[in-house]
Amino acid sequence: MSLPVLNEPDLHLVGQVRPAPAVAHPLLRACCVTVSYGGKPAVRDVELEIAHGRITAIIGPSGCGKSSFLASLNRLTDLIGGCTVSGAAMLEGHDLLAPGVDPVALRRRVGMIFQKPNPFAMSIRKNLEMPLKANGVRGAADRRDLAEQALRDVGLWDEVSGRLNQSALRLSGGQQQRLCIARAVVLRPRLLLLDEPCSALDPMATQRIEELLTELRGGCCGLDSDEESPLTQVVVTHNLAQAKRIADDTAVFWVREGCGVMIESGPTESVFTHPQEEETRRYVSGLQG
Ligand SMILES: Nc1ncnc2c1ncn2[C@@H]1O[C@H](COP(=O)(O)OP(=O)(O)O)[C@@H](O)[C@H]1O
Ligand SMILES: [Mg+2]
Repeated sequence: MSLPVLNEPDLHLVGQVRPAPAVAHPLLRACCVTVSYGGKPAVRDVELEIAHGRITAIIGPSGCGKSSFLASLNRLTDLIGGCTVSGAAMLEGHDLLAPGVDPVALRRRVGMIFQKPNPFAMSIRKNLEMPLKANGVRGAADRRDLAEQALRDVGLWDEVSGRLNQSALRLSGGQQQRLCIARAVVLRPRLLLLDEPCSALDPMATQRIEELLTELRGGCCGLDSDEESPLTQVVVTHNLAQAKRIADDTAVFWVREGCGVMIESGPTESVFTHPQEEETRRYVSGLQG
């Protein structure tokens, strides 16, 4: 019996959490990606496919190049002196690592969330309206509506609708992180990269973010269209239980011969229950790493 093929419209079921599509196709394909500092590779020859509309976790001990690899995908590595990146990262036919890529346009399509929430030191409203203005949304009413929708998408609207003009820095850490996710989501990215997004948060705020990420995978609105579309995500986490809870797919990074490498990847269930590599087996059973 063959599995049913999901059409795009089938994925737009509003307001409910959907399981990841049964038949996934890659949104992003990393080919031989190497990130070096001062000429020395920190992570080498990463070959990884990120499935459309799914959450992929990157796990592995610290220092194996998870953050470096993630940062290369939205060209934050361009900003680090002495850092070089080689290989290709194909997103819908375009190589994100190619020399001519405009980083501003790229970062609209590939959003990034960090361990420490980094809202702008301005009002909640402006945190969302400023990137919209910068990306060409001219009408003030349009910006207001899109900002409200983004706040609803991340479950913040009811918490902040009465104080949109207050500084974002007065929000709790978990609220700030959801605001940062809203700020990325409002631009309707194709891919959201998250580097240890819950590491600075308490368990309740962490649970809220985890729920949010699985909801966004099902669909969110944003610029250009009122229709919901699935949000593909890559989440670096050192929290193995979190990877198991939220990730459809998991990639394991490790340090071999002094350099980070991706040692295996696949559906989360099979990586955790039938790891191919000895390091993975020891790592997921808590024996190493
Ligand atoms: N800005 C930098 N300059 C020099 N070396 C770096 C820099 N950032 C990371 N590294 C090195 O690259 C390797 C991988 O680091 P990183 O990508 O942060 O790993 P992870 O996120 O898995 O902990 C480490 O050896 C780290 O010391
Ligand atoms: Mg890191």
